[in-house]
Amino acid sequence: MTYVVTDACIKCKYMDCVEVCPVDCFYEGENMLVIHPDECIDCGVCEPECPADAIKADTESGLDQWLELNAEYAVRWPNITIKREAPADADDWQGKPDKFEAHFSAEPGEGD
Ligand code: SF4
Ligand code: F3S
Repeated sequence: MTYVVTDACIKCKYMDCVEVCPVDCFYEGENMLVIHPDECIDCGVCEPECPADAIKADTESGLDQWLELNAEYAVRWPNITIKREAPADADDWQGKPDKFEAHFSAEPGEGD
């Protein structure tokens, strides 16, 4: 089992999650984060910290696409353990539909 970051993170990227993860298993893309599924210890503390409700347990159904995306990009993007400032327009993107199709970026973020 692992927790997984979904498309709800895209362009919100609040980064509250990275501060609470005890094993530092978040990885940073240009406009979203992912969780490394082999490093996550399923503690669940990150899930309620996300203002965008973007983090789910993989025991929920319908997450296959995001599980694959987390596994793929966790090995391509840099590790992030320190929260930076969220995008200025993060609140505007909360709950917007179809963010993956319109706005996913495969580019890496800065990392720590
Ligand atoms: Fe980190 Fe725990 Fe969240 Fe997994 S469930 S990403 S170990 S805080
Ligand atoms: Fe994304 Fe939520 Fe973390 S918006 S960066 S999963 S706090």
